Amino acid sequence: MTDFIDLRSDTVTRPTPEMRRAMAEAEVGDDVFGDDPTVNSLQDYAAELLGKEAGLYVPTGSMGNQVSLGSLSRPGDEVVCEAGAHFLHYEGGSASAHLGLMMRPLLGVNGVITADQVSAAIRAGTEHNPHTAVVAMENTHNSAGGRVFPIDEARAVSKVTRERAVALHMDGARIFNAQAATGTPAAEWAACVDTLTFCFSKGLGAPVGSMVVGSTDVIAEAHRLRKRLGGGMRQAGVIAAAARVALETGPARLADDHANARRLAETLADLNPDSVDLDAVETNMIYVDLGAFDTTGSELSAALRSEGVLTLGGPGTLMRLVTHRDVSANDIEAACRALRKVLGTP
Ligand SMILES: Cc1ncc(COP(=O)(O)O)c(C=O)c1O
Repeated sequence: MTDFIDLRSDTVTRPTPEMRRAMAEAEVGDDVFGDDPTVNSLQDYAAELLGKEAGLYVPTGSMGNQVSLGSLSRPGDEVVCEAGAHFLHYEGGSASAHLGLMMRPLLGVNGVITADQVSAAIRAGTEHNPHTAVVAMENTHNSAGGRVFPIDEARAVSKVTRERAVALHMDGARIFNAQAATGTPAAEWAACVDTLTFCFSKGLGAPVGSMVVGSTDVIAEAHRLRKRLGGGMRQAGVIAAAARVALETGPARLADDHANARRLAETLADLNPDSVDLDAVETNMIYVDLGAFDTTGSELSAALRSEGVLTLGGPGTLMRLVTHRDVSANDIEAACRALRKVLGTP
């Protein structure tokens, strides 16, 4: 797949030479004993960057969401989330299967649930109802097209949850894309919530791993849950070393991915203005309405593949394109040429 321009996801990146060097040279120990200096220092560094007391390195964003939600609730409790939340649709039902949690999806706009919606959804707390334990926000919101959760709304939601003694989680898998798009430091969103997870293995470009940050007490509970879920890793410093490079070097270059996404979106809009909403392209994702071109995801994917461009295409007419560290501005120009060739009127 190395010769393809891969627009399927920002998870497809290969470690950079600097990451590989850091991995080879990483000082390691048994992290289940708390002995891995590279993991420990990554956790401290991430917590400080996000303005939280503690951090926990986990293998995946999905596990980060699980240990966060589980640390803030008890089985039978309810989690209020946006209807398109990643953990609701794409994490195998883990919060129900492993944690015994109920989900209460609210229909948001652009992936954003408002403080008013949250306030109305929090249950009164009688013995008849499930207990509303956690509210969750996603930033950026994957299925809404990489949309940013506006900081003012996050603060308003936080005010409500604090007043009502409900915990607040942010699935910030791509929080640094939100930072790059707005100039708002990621720590400002973190200040709103009890737990925030972010991924090293998406736009930041590391091969493996995610981080949960929160208070010392919540992270201690998350640590216990990580072990229960089988996520206690041993010489994890080997992968944490690459994550450290990703966190130090990744955020500053995300603006390039956003510019590349815009360039792609503009090309599509040029081909057919109904195919893409340019205002919706805030970060590194584009959702394309292929109905505008009278084609399907599978058809377009097959055609683009023969032009050297990989995309995820299903039988429907919605296609997501994602830019990332391993797609250069030149690659984007080539992808635009491929789109023009395949979709343009002859
Ligand atoms: C918003 C969001 N949260 C969580 C995850 C889960 O991350 P992982 O694939 O590392 O489990 C993803 C993955 O794409 C995501 O987009």
